[in-house]
Amino acid sequence: MPDRLTLIAPDDWHVHLRDGVMLDKVVAHTARLFRRAIVMPNLKPPVTTTAAADAYRERIRSACPDDLDFEPLMTAYLTDSTDPADLEQGFLSGVFTAAKLYPANATTNSAAGVTDLQTISDVLSCMQRIGMPLLIHGELTDPTVDVFDREAGFIDQHLRPLLKRFPDLRVVFEHITTEEAVEIVTSTEANLAATITPHHLHINRNAMFAGGLRSDFYCLPVAKRERHRLALRRAATSGDPRFFLGTDSAPHSRESKETSCGCAGIFNAPNALESYAQVFEQEGALDRLEGFTSRHGPAFYRLPVNNQQITLERVDQLIPELVDGLVPFHAGEILSWKLSPCT
Ligand code: NCD
Ligand code: ZN
Repeated sequence: MPDRLTLIAPDDWHVHLRDGVMLDKVVAHTARLFRRAIVMPNLKPPVTTTAAADAYRERIRSACPDDLDFEPLMTAYLTDSTDPADLEQGFLSGVFTAAKLYPANATTNSAAGVTDLQTISDVLSCMQRIGMPLLIHGELTDPTVDVFDREAGFIDQHLRPLLKRFPDLRVVFEHITTEEAVEIVTSTEANLAATITPHHLHINRNAMFAGGLRSDFYCLPVAKRERHRLALRRAATSGDPRFFLGTDSAPHSRESKETSCGCAGIFNAPNALESYAQVFEQEGALDRLEGFTSRHGPAFYRLPVNNQQITLERVDQLIPELVDGLVPFHAGEILSWKLSPCT
């Protein structure tokens, strides 16, 4: 059992940094650990244009402490009226790294999302042509569909047809939560990858109901049954380069979590790497951690791996109940790895 683990510095391929006061609170938690992060565009209003993304990137850079070397990678929020020319210009000029598909009303701030994939055919053709990755929140939005079945339903009704229509489109199935999602990624030849969050590797749906209603474990897509969690753990630790790190750290104020209609989202940025390390150790796969955290993502995004390294030490750390007024994932638990401060 190693006591120190040195890894190529990781990147976070899916994070919510928010804006304003919340951005100020959370950005350093991501930036102290990750060299780059794919920043989600579901602000109010959403980041739909190159100009808006450029301005948001500046706000992130100025909120980030100067001593942290962090590069925000921006995403475009697709709507029914996204202009392919603006998207192309944003991608080619290096403002956008990818575009995010939120089915309208699937999750937090997704009301302006896409109502029907047919309406954005021109956008998808353009993205396929220029090699711009499409990041998908893969859930059905039909309220009559059971909330635990929405990801699997999305795969059959939308994802398979999409991959058929656009065979060269590069797609990331974001924050997967089911064995069906693992299966489509492993059985699709090219161009389809998936991010996996720390929380979906640790909790199943029981966590939301343990001894009472536990809104800190409510996120979207919602955690599923144990067999799905186990499938995700196998996928993440398999060494398959199509699976990589995306925390989906999604901070909400305590007031907006602890209310009669609480927001979906888990704030895991402060200890995300330790959380993943715990899973890889439990699965006997610490030797595959670096691929998942630091190599597979850059390979998919056609970016270089980071030059820097980080070190984890085997030290028990008690995760605080609150971090900057927010409840972090693992609050009150002990994690057995700690990011070394000297890196
Ligand atoms: C995210 C948020 O709060 O913005 N919430 C979540 O539960 N993951 C949105 C999302 O990624 O679905
Ligand atoms: Zn997200």
